[in-house]
Amino acid sequence: MCGIIGYIGNREAYPILVQGLHRLEYRGYDSSGVALVDPSGELRIYKSKGKVDELERFARSKELGGTIGIAHTRWATHGEPNDTNAHPHCSQSGRIALVHNGTIENYDVLKQALRQHGYDFRSETDTEVLVQLIEYVMDSSGCTLFDAVREATHRIVGAYAIAVIDRENPNQIIAARRSSPLVIGISGTEAYYLASDATPIVEFTDEVVYLNDGEIAVINRNEKLRIVGSDNSESKINITKLEMSISELEKGGYPHFMLKEIFEQPKTIADCISGRISPDGERLTISGVLENRERFLKARRIVIVACGTSWHAGLIGKHLFEEFCRIPVEVEYASEFRYRHPVIGEGDVLIAVSQSGETADTLAALELAKGQGAFIFGICNVIGSSIPRATHSGCYIHVGPEIGVASTKAFTGQVTVLAMVALAVGRLRGTIDDERFRSVTRDLRRIPMLIEEVLKLDGRVRELSKIFTYAHNFLYLGRGYNYPAALEGALKLKEISYIHAEGYPAAEMKHGPIALIDNEMPTVVIATSDSIYEKTVSNIQQVKARNGRVLAIVTEGDEVASKIADWTLEIPEVCECLSPLLTSIPLQLLAYHTAVSKGRDVDRPRNLAKSVTVE
Ligand code: M6R
Repeated sequence: MCGIIGYIGNREAYPILVQGLHRLEYRGYDSSGVALVDPSGELRIYKSKGKVDELERFARSKELGGTIGIAHTRWATHGEPNDTNAHPHCSQSGRIALVHNGTIENYDVLKQALRQHGYDFRSETDTEVLVQLIEYVMDSSGCTLFDAVREATHRIVGAYAIAVIDRENPNQIIAARRSSPLVIGISGTEAYYLASDATPIVEFTDEVVYLNDGEIAVINRNEKLRIVGSDNSESKINITKLEMSISELEKGGYPHFMLKEIFEQPKTIADCISGRISPDGERLTISGVLENRERFLKARRIVIVACGTSWHAGLIGKHLFEEFCRIPVEVEYASEFRYRHPVIGEGDVLIAVSQSGETADTLAALELAKGQGAFIFGICNVIGSSIPRATHSGCYIHVGPEIGVASTKAFTGQVTVLAMVALAVGRLRGTIDDERFRSVTRDLRRIPMLIEEVLKLDGRVRELSKIFTYAHNFLYLGRGYNYPAALEGALKLKEISYIHAEGYPAAEMKHGPIALIDNEMPTVVIATSDSIYEKTVSNIQQVKARNGRVLAIVTEGDEVASKIADWTLEIPEVCECLSPLLTSIPLQLLAYHTAVSKGRDVDRPRNLAKSVTVE
């Protein structure tokens, strides 16, 4: 949520910053801006409402020289998206520029106090308060920019990742974080790159340092990086090697990242399983489970916390853990969990599921449970992100960078990891027999090949989507393991096509939503051959009896549901507990093609951002 990029080195900063903004655009894209200190010592700030292309068009004819700069792509929290509210924000004297990701909760109080000291505000943002506060501290005490940032960050309540430059010292960037991510790329002492995540850095260097909460980085031109902790002591510079490649960040011939990511799933699931399940399906190695045997053996309950798509994956996780491990599982929206007084204790295992590893609510929920003695296990995609660093242990999904705002390959990766962790824990606790264990691990190994088969439906789904572009509402129904898949299908459609869609447990339909059924509202039903197939078929009958129109996802060779439904999509047979890994694929394609037919910006849907680092 909001992307920050900064550069200091021997090259021109502007092209690096703008390229970085494009890479970070998935974090927010309602406006963007850049601040440079040019060779004559002028601080130049260019900002524009809209996507980064707009900024480029606007800045084309301007002075763009300078080897130090900071830039930002915004997801609005305070004040509408417009040129004035866009970052960077500038201090009253025009000396200091600042970019910010996060929210400052006490900004109004600080604003009133600063007004009394003669400060005026141009924007409606909380961020402008911070840059004025820094200047006020510098002016009133005569301290350095570093000291002023430290003092100002002590006075603010909330979350921040910031980068600050001062035209009086064009050889320095100061950066700081609390609860919002920041990473510094190091190319010797010749160049430093600062960003919200590693995606804009990887093409320049593979050596990065992740800032920890409360730390302030002092990035001086041609000098060694310094990081100072919240207790004012020098932090050790821990360099991490990036494993990401540039090709993973590009569209590779697809019209959208989302379509590329949907089609990558055979490979991403293979990568996710690789080295974890032996070829014969006999052995499953999840080191995070093995290394914490006792915690899983003694677990009296599992609590899964997540948001959005990751929460849907968590719901499937509940079925998997309850079936394989016979442990009660609760699945919680992280945002609700953190503000209740949840009963959590030492016998609990809390699993935090998050693609980005940065979701503010999920991070806060796990910190709360950690403080109450729970064992915290993370299931994340982005290596080195905040959630994996805050957990006791965990398991990465290894599906590569997900750029499309609508999560696809991360969802199937999360479900795959949840299945493997549940199997590993079930074996440890002796609650799954060998035959069942082997049949599921062997089916897991077949999933990449089966997804290849399902992806052949792409053309048919594209055709079907044209029929549905007229619809204003959709209902998605599923049962058991596929109820969360129905929720996820509905979320995908809403997010990128802006068509209202609701997911429901199929049998629950008759308790209310059935009133909505007519021939205008398509109902998508997941009716694969499973233990409750006949019940789901009855639910389809109920929709048809009310003149509803049904698209059914069925198992190959189906002869009952397909005869009743208006349209069917057949997928290969697989064990029930893994079926969401297949049923979710046509639903992803349906959302994608419907959105494309409606002319939507699929990778950057309105109002959304990839990484939700505010609450
Ligand atoms: O990075 P996380 O998995 O924690 O993100 C959680 C949600 O914000 C995310 O899944 C969101 O719902 C996606 N846009 C879904 O496509």
